[in-house]
Amino acid sequence: MHFAMTKAAKKHFIKTFGCQMNVYDSERMSEALAELGYSAADTPEAADLIILNTCHIREKAAEKVYSELGRLKQIKQARQAEGRRTIIAVAGCVAQAEGREMLARAPVVDLVVGPQSYHRLGGLLARAENGDAGIIDIDFPQIDKFKHLPARSNGARAVSAFLTVQEGCDKFCTFCVVPYTRGVEYSRPVSEIVDEAEKLTQAGVRELTLLGQNVNAYHGEGATGGVWSLARLLRRLAQIPDIARLRYTTSHPRDMSEDLIALHGDEEKLMPYLHLPFQAGSDRVLAAMKRRHTRDDYLELVRRIRAARPDIALSTDIIVGFPGESDEDFTRTLELVRDVVFAQAYSFKFSPRPGTPAAAMANQVTDEVKSARLQQVQALLRAQQSAFNGACVGRRLPVLFERAGRSPGQLAGRSPYSQAVHAIGHDALIGDIVEVDIIAAGPNSLEGGIVGALNEGTQDVTPASQPGTDWIS
Ligand code: SAH
Ligand code: SF4
Ligand code: F3S
Repeated sequence: MHFAMTKAAKKHFIKTFGCQMNVYDSERMSEALAELGYSAADTPEAADLIILNTCHIREKAAEKVYSELGRLKQIKQARQAEGRRTIIAVAGCVAQAEGREMLARAPVVDLVVGPQSYHRLGGLLARAENGDAGIIDIDFPQIDKFKHLPARSNGARAVSAFLTVQEGCDKFCTFCVVPYTRGVEYSRPVSEIVDEAEKLTQAGVRELTLLGQNVNAYHGEGATGGVWSLARLLRRLAQIPDIARLRYTTSHPRDMSEDLIALHGDEEKLMPYLHLPFQAGSDRVLAAMKRRHTRDDYLELVRRIRAARPDIALSTDIIVGFPGESDEDFTRTLELVRDVVFAQAYSFKFSPRPGTPAAAMANQVTDEVKSARLQQVQALLRAQQSAFNGACVGRRLPVLFERAGRSPGQLAGRSPYSQAVHAIGHDALIGDIVEVDIIAAGPNSLEGGIVGALNEGTQDVTPASQPGTDWIS
């Protein structure tokens, strides 16, 4: 009986690379696959369908796909030897950018599907199951894929969830592949987003992170007609009682509108954390990147955001070694980091991407120089992050607990500033916002004690605080 059931059930395994939008897409694909009779496998070896959801942003990210495909080839052959078929699919931004070449370079791939075509996965899979090879769908259909994917399921979910509200980008920064892999900027209608948010809260979600490659450029069809901004959308979502916390990422400095800045000052559910990439500190480099903002614009923006929400934790993305970046230019990047002071940040060596203007620019910077600059900026950023975390020791912070921690009896959650926080506590607190006294800080996380808990107690803890009370005084 058990054997018969496992034989009949088809299984899938999705490996996700890249940004949070890929994480979200993988979840949506997984739900669509459930409707097609594919349940999730624990390992790729156990899967009849393996999907790589890929990222094209830097060369290293894209190369990972090919080394992964080498491993999958062995799995496919081993399964074949046992008389089991395996469909290998490549989705995401490498699929979009290099799909055709990939089919030629890696014949192990049966199916290539671009990020805007996931709603057509069922039909593509049926063809693959029928034995078709070299299937590819990398169109940019003029329809909303989300409308054609199955509605979010009501099954038990994590406490914190992603919700894509905007896709694509029209900005064409000269280093970036996103406008080519994700297509033109598109905002989902408000009603669709609110429905999805409500579904997620019914399944236990307490925190939503709204996603978009340019999330603050959101301009979706409003619930009452007209066009709504991201601020208005966030205000609407904050009205859903079970939503305790809201976040959004990634924002472009040019789209940080007045209403959004103001919202950071008066919407308690909007967390005091903002990821705002500036990429480079030199105006000359910023112009060559076509970022369409200067260092002073960025500093002025930070001043306005901090005026609205003084304790906001700022995060950023930085590229070092853009073509033509001199030592002097790079010094301006270090200066800007010192002037702003970040709670955390991501920094990268410039990676020339095929088809982007920056890849064809003369005066490329050597890898040696890029590495030295990366080390320098990362040392500064690490120091700032440690200082930010260290300053939390002795403070009492409201923590949303998301899951059991690594050591027994421990819970893991997040502070309002998006720091990971660990504390001893009962599993029943998962999904609750609880006051925690911060007692220690590491480079990447905080440790604390739940207020009211006995020294070693895992039972005698304070009851959950109410949603919406996680405001920092
Ligand atoms: N939409 C966001 C960024 C999305 S890509 C924005 O406009 O800020 C995520 C980050 O990857 C970028 O912020 C940038 O720092 C980095 N990145 C993008 N292209 C890159 C490249 N060619 N080389 C190195 N880093 C890159
Ligand atoms: Fe890429 Fe962001 Fe620039 Fe768009 S705004 S091109 S996603 S870096
Ligand atoms: Fe990578 Fe595509 Fe996201 S290139 S960063 S997966 S939008």
